[in-house]
Amino acid sequence: MKVLVVGSGGREHALCWKLAQSPLLTKLWCAPGNPGTAMVAENLPVDALDIVGLVAFARDNAVDLVMPGGEPPLVAGITDAMAAAGIACCGPTAAAAELEGSKTFTKQIADAAGVPTAAWARFTEADAARAYIRQHGAPIVVKADGLAAGKGVVVASSVAEAEAAIADFMEDGRLGASGRTVVLEECLFGEEISLFALCDGENALLLGSAQDHKRVGDGDTGPNTGGMGAYSPTPALTPALEQAALQRIILPTLAEMRARGTPFRGVLFAGLMLTADGPKLIEFNVRFGDPECQVLMLRLKSDLLAALLAACDGELANFDLRWHDTPAVGVVMAAAGYPGTHVRDTAIAGLEAASALPGVQIFHAGTASKQGTLVNSGGRVLTVCGQAETLRGAREVAYGAVDQIQWPEGFCRRDIGWRALG
Ligand code: AMP
Ligand code: GLY
Repeated sequence: MKVLVVGSGGREHALCWKLAQSPLLTKLWCAPGNPGTAMVAENLPVDALDIVGLVAFARDNAVDLVMPGGEPPLVAGITDAMAAAGIACCGPTAAAAELEGSKTFTKQIADAAGVPTAAWARFTEADAARAYIRQHGAPIVVKADGLAAGKGVVVASSVAEAEAAIADFMEDGRLGASGRTVVLEECLFGEEISLFALCDGENALLLGSAQDHKRVGDGDTGPNTGGMGAYSPTPALTPALEQAALQRIILPTLAEMRARGTPFRGVLFAGLMLTADGPKLIEFNVRFGDPECQVLMLRLKSDLLAALLAACDGELANFDLRWHDTPAVGVVMAAAGYPGTHVRDTAIAGLEAASALPGVQIFHAGTASKQGTLVNSGGRVLTVCGQAETLRGAREVAYGAVDQIQWPEGFCRRDIGWRALG
């Protein structure tokens, strides 16, 4: 099997790392990849959004399976374009990717399928949105309807804060077209976790749970980021709650998508709030999370490639995956300034020694090689992962490796896993 992974983050490095272990694999490419993916795959200088270029490459090189890591190519229709060229692509069509691309769409699907989720209303006029906010009071959640790279949600603790978000999104246009329409939502309370399922349009195969750490600072302080660390599994999601989420949230969603003629294939990422009334849907994403993917891949014992192929072929009904019992913790090392303007081209050393420690796996994201020196090119730069018998042990392994890395301009949170470990 020849496989092409699309993307260049820590998630894509983890996918390549896992796929490279498959007995079915004969050749692996990553477009555009990073210095980490280059260790296990051949990097291609093609942008993740250059769908025409990716299809041409896949056709010319008889690629058997394309695995897009992130949502931008999915929302842009990479699966449709590959299908038109007769190439399997493990991700939703553009129509099914609307589950991530549009908050309104997701809420409509949830309502039609009876999926438990926060009460909501959609607005295209700022005055009407403000009236709703005054009527319902705070806390209230303000969401830009379109894709906003994690910057489109404000959990407002006061009416004034919610109104400021309306002005920002709808009137000042800070998020462009994505924010001209907003969804206002009831604020849910509880522990937030992520559940992943591989879907073939009809069946869902659970890929495990993880908890991300979205704020930049320890104790969940400071601005939102793409994710500063993750651990898996999450003890808060008991087997009973996991089954409830599968039966009440994931399977009804797949049935509704199928009934609409847009079946969902690929990885479905359900952001859940474990409320006093059971798990409720916060949002869907149509791909693995980053850094959640890194810890999930470390825990997966079975062959990922066989599972992705079964998802494409609609054959997940009797498919099973085996997992390592050992928990995994991933700590993101980011460049000073992230998530704002961050330093660039600063030298990173010590990765070899850190990687050699028992239980350690390091995934690259925003790294680059300059004249033989590893430097940072992006904001999130490395995911340093540890695995051990216990979650606490896994965290110690991960931070032991972090402490071996010489990168004065880098930083990380020191409390990944705190909700489970204190
Ligand atoms: P999203 O971009 O939809 O993932 O939202 C970003 C974050 O906002 C989520 O991870 C939650 O922490 C929070 N959030 C979103 N919707 C709600 C809600 N209805 N109630 C409480 N928190 C929410
Ligand atoms: N870590 C959150 C995400 O990938 O959306």
